[in-house]
Amino acid sequence: MNIDSWHVLCLGGATGIGLATAQLASSRGAHVTVVSNRQDEADKALEQLPQGSCGYTADLLDPQGRVELFDKAGTIDHLVYTAGENVSFTRITDYTTQAASMMLGLRVICALDAVRLAIPHMSNQGSITLTSGTAAFRPGPGWSLVGAFCGAINSAVKALAVELAPVRVNAVAPGVVRSPLWDQVGSSQSDEVFRQLSTALPAGRVAETSDIAKGYLYLMEQGYATGSVLLIDGGTLAMG
Ligand SMILES: NC(=O)c1ccc[n+]([C@@H]2O[C@H](COP(=O)([O-])OP(=O)(O)OC[C@H]3O[C@@H](n4cnc5c(N)ncnc54)[C@H](OP(=O)(O)O)[C@@H]3O)[C@@H](O)[C@H]2O)c1
Repeated sequence: MNIDSWHVLCLGGATGIGLATAQLASSRGAHVTVVSNRQDEADKALEQLPQGSCGYTADLLDPQGRVELFDKAGTIDHLVYTAGENVSFTRITDYTTQAASMMLGLRVICALDAVRLAIPHMSNQGSITLTSGTAAFRPGPGWSLVGAFCGAINSAVKALAVELAPVRVNAVAPGVVRSPLWDQVGSSQSDEVFRQLSTALPAGRVAETSDIAKGYLYLMEQGYATGSVLLIDGGTLAMG
């Protein structure tokens, strides 16, 4: 199927990695729909996408909101899931079940439910790309929840690839990416993290969202990739 006949649905696609993926896919001719839980963000995203792109507002944490979203989304060729609230690192001594439910709820449980809801709208040639991260492989202190989410997604895509074949299911595992996810940390602290990482990483810089978007598009186009976790980390895991 030609890319210009694709419909790509990006959940969490109004900012960051999801928006960059929507921009890249639409620049290649795909029709894209981005979903945010804030109307102003969906509107801002549409200003950065070609005319004819769609922007929906839905709180993915709301089960009914998810059902209504898929009812109006129509046929889906490729589903991309990048929804996540702002990053926070919590040591296990400060762990709360509320923080855990938020992190694992939005990034794992809602992602899996989105897969369930998407399948009836997808053709056999379709693909699903979820999101994890390097925290699955090398977490730092305070990363137990982030690591748990990333590890869960990495395992889930393998199981789903087997269960949902011939629909392909993969994940992208980014290292640190300059995106709005870091806003809550504060610009001076995130700038310092980015500066230190840029010096340390083999790639010599922190990833931009456009670097990671290429991975999602690759997994959409690569008809032989399923059950894969595509690491795009600038050499993070290669470092000793
Ligand atoms: N950036 C990194 O360094 C990095 C590294 C590894 C993995 N990741 C993972 O990559 C994914 C995407 O991150 P990003 O960097 O692109 O961050 P981002 O720019 O903050 O994107 C996350 C998107 O999720 C949306 N969202 C949050 N809660 C939602 C809800 N309840 N319903 C619907 N949409 C919701 C946000 O929409 P609103 O703005 O409207 O809330 C936002 O557009 C996340 O899972 C993150 O953990 C990121």
